[in-house]
Amino acid sequence: MPKRDFLALTDFSPKEIGAVLDMAAAMKAGKYLARPLAGKAVGMLFAKSSTRTRVSFEVGTYQLGGHPMFLSSRDLQLGRGEPIRDTARVLSRYLNGIVIRTYAHDEVEDLARHAAVPVINGLTDLLHPCQVLADLLTVRECLGGWKGKVVAWIGDGNNMANTWLQAAGQLGFTLRIACPEGYEPNREIFEWAKSRADVSVTEEPEEAARGAHVINTDVWASMGQEAEAEARRLAFHGYMVDDNLMGLAAKNAIFLHCLPAHRGEEVTDEVMEGSHSRVWDQAENRLHVQKALMATLMGGSRSGKREKGKGKSKTR
Ligand code: CP
Ligand code: NVA
Repeated sequence: MPKRDFLALTDFSPKEIGAVLDMAAAMKAGKYLARPLAGKAVGMLFAKSSTRTRVSFEVGTYQLGGHPMFLSSRDLQLGRGEPIRDTARVLSRYLNGIVIRTYAHDEVEDLARHAAVPVINGLTDLLHPCQVLADLLTVRECLGGWKGKVVAWIGDGNNMANTWLQAAGQLGFTLRIACPEGYEPNREIFEWAKSRADVSVTEEPEEAARGAHVINTDVWASMGQEAEAEARRLAFHGYMVDDNLMGLAAKNAIFLHCLPAHRGEEVTDEVMEGSHSRVWDQAENRLHVQKALMATLMGGSRSGKREKGKGKSKTR
């Protein structure tokens, strides 16, 4: 079997997404005791900061019996100009899987194309699929699923918004995105999602939030956009999720934020700490879904990588 990657939610069928969430739920419930990564090493290549992604992948690898290796791109030769395709081929000779967080999505695709081992996208400027897998598990736990549900995205049409569009397209729920003009999600991803689900973009946060079952937001300036922070603060004026906006949502609506949160910008402290907030469960779920993902992609006896005495490596 060829190795498989997880670079986007669209890399998995809806059925496969369901299977990963089922496995994650079993892991969370303590019903999964296997150690499919025993004897394996997973490299975690980070070009951007991280609290949740790094720690949950490292702990998850350890809990599955494997050895996590944090690799800052600053310390790798990659940071001094070694091509990603060379890095991919070399790392594939040592590792059983790679998690990567970087800027350009193309770089992750390039890595996956040249790596002989599974690659997982730990966030790019375009997508953050591991986070939305965790969000979907949280929605399923809190609301019983997404059939007939309305999800509102308030704020920047960023990597998270793009990934929620892919989720809506794959799973068929309603997604309403409220963002200022000029900060819309990726056009191509939006059109793709629109051909499969009820997704829309408005400039009115109230319109998106009214009757919604999930209210979702994220920072106004993502990693790499620090220089735009002030301009964005002005552009996003009026897009803060506060109690008034939450009051327009469905009665038992949940509030999600992938974190880190900037209280007083995209969300108030009251909403973060309030009764609708599920942000800590959401953060915990990163661990469970990523363990399920690693068990699925890297847990087999073969992961596209050469095993001792079994012929030539598939590394190109
Ligand atoms: N939500 C998320 O990916 O957090 P980190 O940037 O801390 O990994
Ligand atoms: N949109 C944010 C998400 C952080 C987890 C960023 O890319 O910085």
